[in-house]
Amino acid sequence: MKKAVFISIFLLASAAPSFADETCSQVRNTPQAPKNFLAHKNPLKPTKKNLEEGRKLYYQERKELGCVQCHGEKGDGQGKMAPGLVPPPQNFSCAPAMNKIKDGQMFWIIQNGSAGTGMYTYAYLKDKEIWQLILYIRQFSKK
Ligand code: HEC
Repeated sequence: MKKAVFISIFLLASAAPSFADETCSQVRNTPQAPKNFLAHKNPLKPTKKNLEEGRKLYYQERKELGCVQCHGEKGDGQGKMAPGLVPPPQNFSCAPAMNKIKDGQMFWIIQNGSAGTGMYTYAYLKDKEIWQLILYIRQFSKK
């Protein structure tokens, strides 16, 4: 009897990681954007120009810390600064997870950060730049 309990606990524990691999989803600690904000849809179209501007911001060819440092070259959350960050940076290449994060939610977190985590406050970005970044980030889960 004891043995059976042990085995079933073992099976449950070993099932957990493979489930996480399958969905590639991760724990999110970000606060939810206010309701009126969540409803915002990206007003920009994924034109070549907008994507290029988003790319530049992501890889930070400007002065400040680039998203790439944490979210990674392929948007997979494996950037140079990622090891040791709890919670980990969002994996933008995980479609099931990304489909659940609304444009308005992303905008809010990029603008306000996620307090107590590695996710910075990018309040200095113009609204247009944030929308361009969101267009670019969404490409990672579409490939
Ligand atoms: C120093 C590391 C770091 C940098 C740089 C960084 N992020 Fe993040 N980001 C994180 C972490 C950690 C999380 C997870 C936060 C959480 O779950 O509370 C995150 C989460 C996110 C999310 C998910 C929001 C949600 O509600 O789940 C978005 C979108 C995002 N980051 C966009 C960006 C963008 C755009 C940039 C660059 C302008 C950027 N991040 C730069 C660490 C970083």
